Amino acid sequence: MLDIKPTGAALGAEIRGIDLSQPMAEATLRAIEHALHEHEVIFFRGQRIGPEQHVAFSGRFGELEKHIRVECCKPGFPEIFVVSNVIENGKPIGTQDAGLFWHSDLAYMARPSRGSLFYAHEVPHDDAGKPLGDTMFASTTAAWRALPEDLKRIVAGRRAVTSYAKGYYRDRNSGPRPPLTEAQKARTPDVEHPIMRTHPYTKKPCLFVNEGYTTRIVDLPPEESGRVLDLLFEHVSRPEFVYRHQWQEGDFLIWDNCSTQHRAVFDYALPQRRRMERTTLTGTAPF
Ligand code: SIN
Repeated sequence: MLDIKPTGAALGAEIRGIDLSQPMAEATLRAIEHALHEHEVIFFRGQRIGPEQHVAFSGRFGELEKHIRVECCKPGFPEIFVVSNVIENGKPIGTQDAGLFWHSDLAYMARPSRGSLFYAHEVPHDDAGKPLGDTMFASTTAAWRALPEDLKRIVAGRRAVTSYAKGYYRDRNSGPRPPLTEAQKARTPDVEHPIMRTHPYTKKPCLFVNEGYTTRIVDLPPEESGRVLDLLFEHVSRPEFVYRHQWQEGDFLIWDNCSTQHRAVFDYALPQRRRMERTTLTGTAPF
């Protein structure tokens, strides 16, 4: 029913012939959801929608998050998190350096996000017209399947700690960030998640540690924990598990935050403008 063109990489597919500004039948929505589970990252090119439509379409997949960095949310739309290097009236309009490290969205919450819906408003280009600011996606299902048996044995049944503060304070492109407020800290205590997480819909095993937010493996000595995490971080981002998305203005991309991780490529700077908007689906506790 859908016109689906896989990228040829370990994950990712383009879905053609869909206009997100038009009403969508429930059967089409379910087919898109099925494609997301199968391909882990899906995208529609050439879309023209406003923020109300972005929120409404996203909301058909489930509850939406309101990011704790309220200063990065679109005025009037607390469900839209702005990812941009644009400065207006002396102030950044959104987060300037999201995705500097491999991560999945809200991995640091007790209920990490199910998926994110990302709309490209402005894409930077080089002088020759080549798009910059790509996003790389890694399949955590493919990474788990290919994990060497000795590593699988070490991490079997183990949990790892994720920390929002770790990701928040790491070296940033745009300089240091203000300290987290007490309210932000209260909403983001460190949490433990299984290293091998079962996908809530497909039931596939996913490697669920990431260099952005995972700090240590529970009940392993610090040195051993650091060594194993480094191996896992290196493994999940190997080229054979990665799809690199080159953005076009009007791209609307959905990624699954359990079966993928992502990382932004920072190869542009003002006056090359990048302006993206994201909604983030609430997820369920990993098991
Ligand atoms: C993100 O990590 O949500 C942003 C990714 C990007 O800007 O490419």
